[in-house]
Amino acid sequence: MEKKFKRTLVTTALPYANGPVHIGHLAGVYVPADIYARYLRLKGEEVLMIGGSDEHGVPITIKARKEGVTPQDIVDRYHTIIKDSFAEFGISFDIYSRTSSKIHYETASDFFRKLYDKGEFIEKVSQQYYDEEAQQFLADRYITGTCPHCRNERAYGDQCEACGTSLNATDLIDPKSAISGSKPVLRDTKHWYLPLDKWEPYLRQWILEEHKEWRPNVYGQCKSWIDMGLQPRAVSRDLDWGVPVPVEGADGKVLYVWFDAPIGYISNTKELLPESWEKWWKDPETKMIHFIGKDNIVFHCIVFPAMLKAEGSYNLPENVPANEFLNLEGDKISTSRNWAVWLHEYLRDFPGKQDVLRYVLTANAPETKDNDFTWRDFQARNNNELVAILGNFINRSVVLTYKYFDGKVPAAGELTDYDRETLAEFANVKATVENLLDNYRFRDAQKEAMNLARIGNKYLADTEPWKLAKTDMERVATILNLALQISANLAIAFEPFLPFSAAKLRTMLGMNEFCWEQLGRTDLLAEGTQLATAELLFEKIEDATIEAQLQKLEDTKKANQLAEHKANPIRENIEFDDFMKLDIRVGKVLECTKVPKADKLLQFRIDDGLGGRTIVSGIAKHYAPEDLVGKNVCFIANLAPRKLRGIESQGMILSAEDADGRLVVITPADEVKPGSEVK
Ligand code: MF3
Ligand code: ZN
Repeated sequence: MEKKFKRTLVTTALPYANGPVHIGHLAGVYVPADIYARYLRLKGEEVLMIGGSDEHGVPITIKARKEGVTPQDIVDRYHTIIKDSFAEFGISFDIYSRTSSKIHYETASDFFRKLYDKGEFIEKVSQQYYDEEAQQFLADRYITGTCPHCRNERAYGDQCEACGTSLNATDLIDPKSAISGSKPVLRDTKHWYLPLDKWEPYLRQWILEEHKEWRPNVYGQCKSWIDMGLQPRAVSRDLDWGVPVPVEGADGKVLYVWFDAPIGYISNTKELLPESWEKWWKDPETKMIHFIGKDNIVFHCIVFPAMLKAEGSYNLPENVPANEFLNLEGDKISTSRNWAVWLHEYLRDFPGKQDVLRYVLTANAPETKDNDFTWRDFQARNNNELVAILGNFINRSVVLTYKYFDGKVPAAGELTDYDRETLAEFANVKATVENLLDNYRFRDAQKEAMNLARIGNKYLADTEPWKLAKTDMERVATILNLALQISANLAIAFEPFLPFSAAKLRTMLGMNEFCWEQLGRTDLLAEGTQLATAELLFEKIEDATIEAQLQKLEDTKKANQLAEHKANPIRENIEFDDFMKLDIRVGKVLECTKVPKADKLLQFRIDDGLGGRTIVSGIAKHYAPEDLVGKNVCFIANLAPRKLRGIESQGMILSAEDADGRLVVITPADEVKPGSEVK
């Protein structure tokens, strides 16, 4: 049974204020959330859209340290940049605030305190690394050392990227602080844990039974977390940047950023509506929807709901339409490698073209799988869809009305069969778009809206009013009336998607009042309404413009390669004899399977020409096991055997690694017998 709600609270993931925002943010969270909020407002519903910057967490303190400024300086800088970018793109927040605000400190602190007083936390003392030089405890990511499994010397305190094993900082051999370089020591420290295991039965029922309608990617991730068994999670950290833990004897401890950040949604609602915020959070007739990217699923579907349940008086989200990731020209967007289209740069390079980017990002929205943004696609969608279909139709309708009727909406006469067919085609648009939007299918919804423009475009092309002008002005009047009514429909249908262009269009058509309910009607513009002069909504983007953007990315790639070469220079020379010690052979892959519970490891059975051997290799992220079976590979045959995840690996399969960390297995250029030596 569909639940009935009175109002909708739309929350958008709070971006970290440690860098500007890029197209991935927009596509993943803010554009879909904005479409949804605008749509509901257009329907006259009560809706609130909440946003803000996430200003805590270790990366912000690290950045501050690197630049020799305070964390507050860092977040002040980026909060402003981010907030401005969103405003420029028409993201219609009712409030965009920040987690360093006073009201947030109070709210987060009170929230913790309430759970603490209710006995909802477990207190545990554990040993953690402490940097005596820097006089601080170290977050796992800021400890490096040697991996106990594969001996990689650059493993992190949470994971070894070479063999894929997840680690505890205390597993590392020769640990080093990334802050001072000194050897950290273990110290006792007390933290508060939220026992997620306690909420497991509840969460299992609530998500897996009662929210089967959630997107498959979201539902699937929740299911696998729950099925693996939920563990208590620490909600505090030893750090001096964040909301202080509000209990006696917790000096130097702050709330974990993932504890305080989602409470930011509450603080920001309070800041906006000090008197009436509670109905948005506690009235069961409020529908709460979290817009997030897929890396945030566990926090919004499991941890935050457990926090809210533990508190006891809050609603849980009704849906969490998380998106997958958007890639850029085939590669993962990466802030550190500057592989991104930054919003502030886009605005500089494409002034006034916010809607074009909104359109392309929605057309390509990573709703069900990762998707790719390419500049060629951006150009094609602009030129072939926005300009050639939508813009062309509107422009023709308005220009022809000026030409034949002095820019006044002409009266419609009798309709022909063809007119009726056209009307029948767009009669369904409202229901279709609504249904898609109600189900968070923004990409298909926009496609349907575009279809309406297609119908209009085709109508004008087929009826050719410019040819009838000499003989049948009455017919021309009818055709243009209909074309203008379709244009008015477009001004409504596109309002959630292309707010700037829709507003321009409404001005052009002299539409003052409008609402979603009017969609599908053909009496939106009264006879005699004076149109404003035609204005082009979109313009063609030339090849040279696109090539400049591609060149910019090429340059980034080159710069990254140079940096990579500096970071990864050729090693010092060795003697020929050293080389001869290596016994490299060709082998044929007989079997290849995933190693359970190790997301990077594959187990191989290799025909080595000597009866076969087993090798474990950390390339599971790069190959499906079945794709490697039957391939010839090269491997080191005389590497001392070692155990990985309890499996004895007898050698090492050779692969090449590019600057992005992509691994490609080395295979001989021609068929060659297993066991052949590589020299
Ligand atoms: N800052 C987080 C990120 O960018 C998102 C925080 S969402 C919130 O991944 F719920 F915690 F606010
Ligand atoms: Zn390792």
